[in-house]
Amino acid sequence: MDNYVAVNKANWDSRVPHHIGQYQFDEFRANKDFLSDVVRFDLPRLGEIVGLDVVHLQCHLGTDTLSLARLGAASTTGLDFSPPALAAARDLALECGASINYVESELYDAVAVLGAAQFDLVYTGIGALCWLPDIRRWAQVIADLLRPGGRLFLREGHPVLWSLGDPREDGLLTITYPYFETEGIHFSESQSYVSHDEPLASPDNISFNHGLGQIVSALLAAGMQISALEEHDSAPYNALGDYVSEIGGGEFRLREDPLRLPMTYTLQATKS
Ligand SMILES: C[S@@+](CC[C@H](N)C(=O)[O-])C[C@H]1O[C@@H](n2cnc3c(N)ncnc32)[C@H](O)[C@@H]1O
Repeated sequence: MDNYVAVNKANWDSRVPHHIGQYQFDEFRANKDFLSDVVRFDLPRLGEIVGLDVVHLQCHLGTDTLSLARLGAASTTGLDFSPPALAAARDLALECGASINYVESELYDAVAVLGAAQFDLVYTGIGALCWLPDIRRWAQVIADLLRPGGRLFLREGHPVLWSLGDPREDGLLTITYPYFETEGIHFSESQSYVSHDEPLASPDNISFNHGLGQIVSALLAAGMQISALEEHDSAPYNALGDYVSEIGGGEFRLREDPLRLPMTYTLQATKS
């Protein structure tokens, strides 16, 4: 899977035109206090970010990045490897009068591009880690970007959710894909996670799962102290078709007996 960056970059570039229009840009333009559903969910856990230098890794169209800027960050940086995603994010920030530094980079090059120990808060997740093959290398990037005492805020898809296969005809959800880190799985999917008519021009993608213990251990090995780990029964996108229903705030969870399945988790860690 050595070509995962090129394959995934083409895939993400091809999703952008379908995603613009589904990320509440109009609400951001119309209301200077509007925040993304994702960041609104995080608010009770995020704490004060006024005055912090914040970097949002794998920022996509920048709606969460803009939300963090609106919460009073001293500086806000968004990093992603997709030029069309960054172009849309820059346009939105400009229209909203927000000063955000958007940087094009592959995740593992982030320290070379942004510099070491430049940030108080690294914010990332909601479909970020699954595109990265090596969780220990990711954790080292997080530690290197942070100043001493700086914090990681990660809300991410749960590795149990990401190990489920497509729902079967008999209605059962089954563990189909690896829970633990492997060399990656090649998918070809014509649809993204938002609804759109035209199929994706670049449907191929390569994704990677990482067990929760592997993520925690990688952060500890990189010198981070875990300060919070909370599992949630909902996710901010429809990950399971008819099995889930929307419960408000853009969150989806299992229609029946939702406490069976962890769908996301929030992990916070501090650089000692
Ligand atoms: C699901 S999106 C993240 C969503 C984001 N939390 C949001 O909704 O605003 C995943 C993002 O990761 C980016 N990405 C994937 N692999 C990457 C890599 N190796 N380096 C940098 N960015 C990457 C994609 O371009 C995409 O914008």
